[in-house]
Amino acid sequence: MPTFVVKTFGCQFNELYSASVADMLERAGLEQSTVLDQASLVVINTCAVREKAEEKAFSFLGEAARAVDASRIIFMGCSATLDQERAKRIAGRELNIIPGTAGVEEVLARVQSVAACVQSDLAAPRSLFPTADIEVVRGCESECTYCIVPRARGRETVVDAGVILREAEESIQHGFRELLLLGQNINRYHWNGGGLIDLLSVIDRLNGDFWFWFLSPHPAYFRRTEVECFMQLNHAERHVHLPLQSGSDSILRRMNRRYSMADYDALARAVRSGQGWRLTTDIIVGFPGETDEDFEATVAAVHRYQFDEVFLAKYSDRPGTPSSTMRDKVPRKTIDERHSALLRVVQDLSLRSNAGMAGRSVDVLVVKAAALGMTFGKSRDGRNVWFDNQTGMSLRPGSFVRVTVDHGSREGLYGVCID
Ligand code: 5AD
Ligand code: SF4
Repeated sequence: MPTFVVKTFGCQFNELYSASVADMLERAGLEQSTVLDQASLVVINTCAVREKAEEKAFSFLGEAARAVDASRIIFMGCSATLDQERAKRIAGRELNIIPGTAGVEEVLARVQSVAACVQSDLAAPRSLFPTADIEVVRGCESECTYCIVPRARGRETVVDAGVILREAEESIQHGFRELLLLGQNINRYHWNGGGLIDLLSVIDRLNGDFWFWFLSPHPAYFRRTEVECFMQLNHAERHVHLPLQSGSDSILRRMNRRYSMADYDALARAVRSGQGWRLTTDIIVGFPGETDEDFEATVAAVHRYQFDEVFLAKYSDRPGTPSSTMRDKVPRKTIDERHSALLRVVQDLSLRSNAGMAGRSVDVLVVKAAALGMTFGKSRDGRNVWFDNQTGMSLRPGSFVRVTVDHGSREGLYGVCID
């Protein structure tokens, strides 16, 4: 059987697009593999958000180009918008490039022409089961000064509410148990005078046994009343991811984040006032001009909100972004030091948050059936859960179960499912 390799870097959007490509190729009779030199097609889905991810993708491209002909390689995603010449220098002129501005329909059509296979429907990709990723806003125009996404992904467009609802309904009918709505700045969603919360409220009224969640909100476009409204919805997961980026007002201004700490505070407190709700965030350390005081303000904010999980990044200079031309860059050594100091704090918070769940029973969606004796799933508030299945029945991905938590680690919860 002919095989294909898909290598994915970066965010949930890339996961979704890669899964859609993989699904189509599987339906066309190809088998997914990790062996490059026997592959009829190699798909590399790239991320440009930080230099490290970008370098990894280019080095994988080099590896692929040594193993197969460039005409059998597809280079897609954010770096494929930004650095086409470099990609061709590495792999050769025959390389197939699909820029990150292409929507999923265009990506599938291009892959189809390279792989000579047929278009599949645009339903949620089966390979992400039991989660149905649904794109609701494509592209980004928010212009945070550090971020390459607006250049890599292009202009913002919203998906028709009818299309989203049909996909949501079909996914539930096909047994998907989690709907994950996606937008780079999902609060920009609007349709017929309604906004994101209206869309979520309609989704919440769909029939079926499912949870839903969304990524990523932007604090400047999110209102406290909307957060409160989301927290009232029946099918909502008990988790809000609210990217803070910095705890200093002056850095937030230089990042062009368009909110102050007072604005953020109102949203974070709304989440924190919900019993059993988890609050997570993204933080960048070492943004140009970040002083010791600015950094301390970020550390203080992390302590204040007691984030359950923090995705911590070192500032990475992205050519073409406004911040890349700012003069007062923070020295690498300082960035490293601030990163390690804050990492200790956030790891300790994750541990405490998860350890605090010991002894409780939590609702869990089974994601992967037993591997090494442990079943893997996610809790309603978005934690990883590994558990021993003592029900005597085999649990399939997509089952909802109740797990008694024995203990927690930085990574998640460990427990047992009895009935
Ligand atoms: N450097 C470091 N981190 C970045 N992010 C986005 N751009 C950069 C950059 N230039 C982080 C932000 C964002 C997450 C997806 O990636 O924290 O929320
Ligand atoms: Fe996703 Fe942004 Fe990375 Fe592109 S740059 S893959 S949009 S995280």
